[in-house]
Amino acid sequence: MSLDRQGRVRLEGVVKKHGSFTALHGLDLDIAPGEFFALLGPSGSGKTTTLRILAGLESVNAGRVLLDEIDVTAKQPGERDVAMVFQSYALYPHMTVGQNIGFPLKMIGTPSAEISRAVRDAAASVDIAHLLDRRPGQLSGGQQQRCALARAIVRKPRLFLLDEPLSNLDAKLRVETRAELRRLQRTLGVTTVYVTHDQEEAMTMADRMALFIEGRVVQVGTPKEVFSRPASVAVAGFIGTPPMNLLPASMDSGRVRIGDIALPVASTGAAAGADVMLGVRPGDLRIGGDGLPAKVEFVEDFGDSAIANIQVNGQRVKSRVEADAGLSEGQSVRLSFAPGAAHLFDRATGLRI
Ligand SMILES: Nc1ncnc2c1ncn2[C@@H]1O[C@H](COP(=O)(O)OP(=O)(O)OP(=O)(O)O)[C@@H](O)[C@H]1O
Ligand SMILES: [Mg+2]
Repeated sequence: MSLDRQGRVRLEGVVKKHGSFTALHGLDLDIAPGEFFALLGPSGSGKTTTLRILAGLESVNAGRVLLDEIDVTAKQPGERDVAMVFQSYALYPHMTVGQNIGFPLKMIGTPSAEISRAVRDAAASVDIAHLLDRRPGQLSGGQQQRCALARAIVRKPRLFLLDEPLSNLDAKLRVETRAELRRLQRTLGVTTVYVTHDQEEAMTMADRMALFIEGRVVQVGTPKEVFSRPASVAVAGFIGTPPMNLLPASMDSGRVRIGDIALPVASTGAAAGADVMLGVRPGDLRIGGDGLPAKVEFVEDFGDSAIANIQVNGQRVKSRVEADAGLSEGQSVRLSFAPGAAHLFDRATGLRI
């Protein structure tokens, strides 16, 4: 990879409207060269729209797109040196695998000897060099997916844009391909923007990620940062499987009060008497101790662990427990958590305290 193609990506104040509907409300993003950057968020939050804007397939109503500090907002897809793999990867059924992979080079008039070499290299890097003479219909789903990736990398673009590229694969293959794709990206060193609504995918693959909610980026950080310090109630309610429990509470000198019970918390940025939202991850919510009086509703058993669904203060919360915890429906329990496990959010603004 030549050094003049570094692959820094910046979006500045990007607004995208579809008629009266605003799909993106002034998006700012700064993605470093070589980074594997995930766009994560629920359906309809604007991830694909953002990717299409980066590719040049979609215009913007306001703001700028910069690639390596050059304003490409008005540039056509072909002038941007980016390669995109769509969710449905659209291989040409009448062409062989080799012809599919070489197609982008053929389109720009590359000599055929050079195409053959590049096709072999690209195919080898995703382990399908032995399949070049087959047609897409004669490949498994995972092999088709790798063919689409080979077609994307054959030009050695400065930026890869991947839109849920693993979503057509079964669960086992998805996990395997995830690791392969990550390794390939590291080897090539190409900046990669990866759209997914699967947080496990984002958490395991990304160097950093942006969490999208309703056309806004609500947090940017490493997966670890976003998981351990969600910036708002909205992020806390999305990240984690199941996500964080959120309970309305009020501050009471180093404690949070829920109903009649006050429990100590480590973070004390909130003023006494303030209305807060208390967040505790299911894995941090313990059954037992001097805690909140609660009642077991039902238990979801996953074999190696279980999730107890529990009523507390008129609300359902989830606690991760051992599979054989011996909890029964209707059982009265107490819920507690370590002071350091409590996340506090301002109830009015939703922001982390
Ligand atoms: N051409 C269009 N006309 C009108 N609305 C559109 C158009 N394209 C997208 N939208 C809307 O813009 C919003 C963002 O769409 P987008 O495809 O970016 O979502 P997404 O985050 O990729 O969701 P998913 O996970 O379901 O793929 C959605 O509400 C969608 O309905
Ligand atoms: Mg999408």
